[in-house]
Amino acid sequence: MSTPGSYFDDQYAGAADPWHLGERWYDRRKYDLTVAALPRPRYLRAFEPGCSVGVLTELLAARCRQLLSTDRVASAVEATTRRTSGLDHVTVRRMTVPEQWPEGTFDLVVLSELLYYFDAGTRTRLLRRSAESLDDGGHLVTVHWNHPVAEHTCTGRDIADRLDSLPGLSRLARYDDPDFTLTVHEHRPGSGPVFSPARAEGLA
Ligand SMILES: C[S@@+](CC[C@H](N)C(=O)[O-])C[C@H]1O[C@@H](n2cnc3c(N)ncnc32)[C@H](O)[C@@H]1O
Repeated sequence: MSTPGSYFDDQYAGAADPWHLGERWYDRRKYDLTVAALPRPRYLRAFEPGCSVGVLTELLAARCRQLLSTDRVASAVEATTRRTSGLDHVTVRRMTVPEQWPEGTFDLVVLSELLYYFDAGTRTRLLRRSAESLDDGGHLVTVHWNHPVAEHTCTGRDIADRLDSLPGLSRLARYDDPDFTLTVHEHRPGSGPVFSPARAEGLA
């Protein structure tokens, strides 16, 4: 069963930043690795569902011409809106995925600490919608905790394994450590090599 919406409402009723995302070295390092793993220097239009208080949003904003960040909880949307108030290219909206989904296509979708809240069917639906929203050559980045948690239906490693079997996505990178797993996949309906930063600059 997916984690009910009331769980997230309760979390934010008890604390402005329930997961202390802006406080720990653990999270700061993980966010830095996430942004460092983005293969392209710049993205034109990115989507980040489940943005919480916007710590990763702020880092992603530096690499995107347009960024849409969303959360199902109003106070999280307000916190991210405040955090990005000086950044005109960032739009923050209240949206519950995968039932609600933005119009248009993206060249980057980032799913960070979100997918383990869904049952397997809903998780697959969310991943399919993400893949379908990507332009050819667009990138899907996932990053998730690996330790067991009562509310989580799976780990980061499980998510990474599942991603490799989804049609239309080719794995570009995977990073595993004891705490989290980070993946980068490219939307590539046909065959052919995935994007290489070295090739793009004539080094390979
Ligand atoms: C653990 S926080 C992760 C925040 C952020 N992505 C990060 O990595 O720092 C999960 C967030 O996802 C939001 N969320 C959970 N289910 C959601 C859904 N179905 N649609 C949109 N947001 C959701 C929660 O409200 C919460 O803010």
